Amino acid sequence: MKTITLSTLQAYKRAGETFSCLTAYDASFARAASEAGIEVLLVGDSLGMVLQGHASTLPVTLDDICYHTRCAARGKGASLLMVDLPFMSNTSLERLLQDAGALMRAGAELVKLEGEAWMADGIRELTRRGVPVCAHLGLTPQTVYQLGGYKVQGRDSQRAEQIVDDARVLVDAGASVILLECVPASLGRAVREAVEVPVIGIGAGVDVDGQILVMHDVLGVTHGRTPRFVKNFMTEADDIQGAFRRYHEDVKARRFPADEHSF
Ligand code: KIV
Ligand code: NA
Repeated sequence: MKTITLSTLQAYKRAGETFSCLTAYDASFARAASEAGIEVLLVGDSLGMVLQGHASTLPVTLDDICYHTRCAARGKGASLLMVDLPFMSNTSLERLLQDAGALMRAGAELVKLEGEAWMADGIRELTRRGVPVCAHLGLTPQTVYQLGGYKVQGRDSQRAEQIVDDARVLVDAGASVILLECVPASLGRAVREAVEVPVIGIGAGVDVDGQILVMHDVLGVTHGRTPRFVKNFMTEADDIQGAFRRYHEDVKARRFPADEHSF
């Protein structure tokens, strides 16, 4: 695989070619995912749940994410490394810039943050300083207690329009990528059509530019009830590398997500 950059993702969007993304928290799994062809790796604050065993992403610290970023960066190969800003990095503009700077120094190539239109100023200041931003909209896990649980967002037309507007505002402010979590497939399509930048979906239907899943879900290392948008690719593979390849191929061919994984 050739080195993946933001320009590569832009070119995919223009060509109508989809791309795959997967979380990775260490060098070995980052390498395996990269060798499977997965274009974007995310050091997600989901590590608070899948690695640390917390019930939400809120306890994850900047130091936790920097540690896993340094680990994943050593194995990322040609994939693009996206990294999450932790809960409350947005308490001030100064803190936002400093925390994003720490992630970039640890190896991030794209910084992801949660937040709606009000994050426009922060995004403008980050991009001015050379920090590319992915804006995460829809179900934003850092606000799970405000949202009242992990629920599909944008089912009613008012909230759906708000999400489309937020995406436009944040792209105008400089966001290079939009990530949409847990929204109806029709809203995924609407956001993809509303903005010029690549839109990555998780539980956002098949009509977006890229797909992402949490690695543990792809490998079936889950407990309790799993969300509808998750698929265990180990059932169709002989080993972990095979499951990553299968996920990548199914995303590229738009076989994943199917209707059964969408809202
Ligand atoms: O932290 C994470 O893994 C994420 C993905 C679910 C998009 O933000
Ligand atoms: Na996250």
